[in-house]
Amino acid sequence: MNKRKTTSSLIILTLCLLAMILTACGAEPAVKLPKQKEVTDKTLKDVFGEHGMKIGTCISANVINNKQMADLVFGQYNSLTMENAMKPDYILNQEKSIASGELTVEFNQEARSILSWAKEHNFTMRGHTLIWYSQTPDWIFRDGFDQNGVYVNREEMLTRMEALISGVFAELKKLGYLDLFYAYDVINEAIMEDGSIRENNWTKIIGDDYLWYAFYFADQYAPETIDLYYNDYNEQYKADRLVEFVETLKDNEGRYLIDGIGLQAHLFTADDLPNYLNAVDILAETGLKLELTEIDIGLGKYQSPLSPTDENLREQGRYCYELINGLFERADAGSINMDAVTFWGFSDGISWRREYSPQLYNSDLDPKYALYGALQIRDYAGYQTDNP
Ligand code: GLA
Repeated sequence: MNKRKTTSSLIILTLCLLAMILTACGAEPAVKLPKQKEVTDKTLKDVFGEHGMKIGTCISANVINNKQMADLVFGQYNSLTMENAMKPDYILNQEKSIASGELTVEFNQEARSILSWAKEHNFTMRGHTLIWYSQTPDWIFRDGFDQNGVYVNREEMLTRMEALISGVFAELKKLGYLDLFYAYDVINEAIMEDGSIRENNWTKIIGDDYLWYAFYFADQYAPETIDLYYNDYNEQYKADRLVEFVETLKDNEGRYLIDGIGLQAHLFTADDLPNYLNAVDILAETGLKLELTEIDIGLGKYQSPLSPTDENLREQGRYCYELINGLFERADAGSINMDAVTFWGFSDGISWRREYSPQLYNSDLDPKYALYGALQIRDYAGYQTDNP
């Protein structure tokens, strides 16, 4: 064997080994889809706009500080939800609460920089979230706002809840961002899959009617222009219970205190899509607005992520196509009232469920079949095996 041949055999061997290692590590396969501009002139904003919907993504300061990501978000989306920065953990100031004796809302630097970027770039926003069992500081439930204090009583906790809810809208107004918001999650994740109300500090101190009070206060302090949402996950397994639950969120005259139901839509390719869309139909019967608020479609199923392959990425693309198509058909026919849809991120690399590769772009921000699914471009959404 001459030297040249040996070298090229070595190169081939190395490449094969590399491919084997990459496959074993579950690295993404090499199939590269064409860039969106080569396939269509339309953006996600255009496509969703044709069906009367805004299209959103969640966002952190890291996204707006990264030019490539910020440009992508600006080009494709027109609605933003803060991934974390407006959760109770981040908007309450313990020192100022102790000093003033009242629960005090103050947005941190991350929230302020996202709000400023959103305003500068003409985004609309969803607020997430006022009342939740998770990512909420324990000291807000304790005497003197002191970590070691005893838990306060129902009356005091209702006062604090009112302060939290009124404080958020007052802070947004003071900073000049209130009119960016079209929707706000008043409560996140309160109903368990068995239909019971999730036990947490709010139920322990106030009782189950903390849910009603949260909407009562939100209805009082939010401007009319902001729709008030109840937001939850695994919605497809408890749609009937959610219908029953929202019926309790009415005032003395029977008027709804709630405007919409947020369906998180943390889905998997193994999930039954017709069953999911059936849950959407059941919830639509309430007459309330609906929004898919945190869509991602993981490869595989719960606790069994699949490494990406061309085959399962195609399946994800088709799933995304069918899901969005199902929503568009319903919105066009007037059978659902849905004016926005939000994905929980856009890139697999920064997704909270990155092991499931659940987003529209891969970690290099290359388009996936799922992006073309969302854009309703069937030819690139994973249906044709000889394409791309
Ligand atoms: C839930 C919450 C979101 C977020 C995700 C994980 O869906 O509603 O705010 O915490 O979990 O990112």
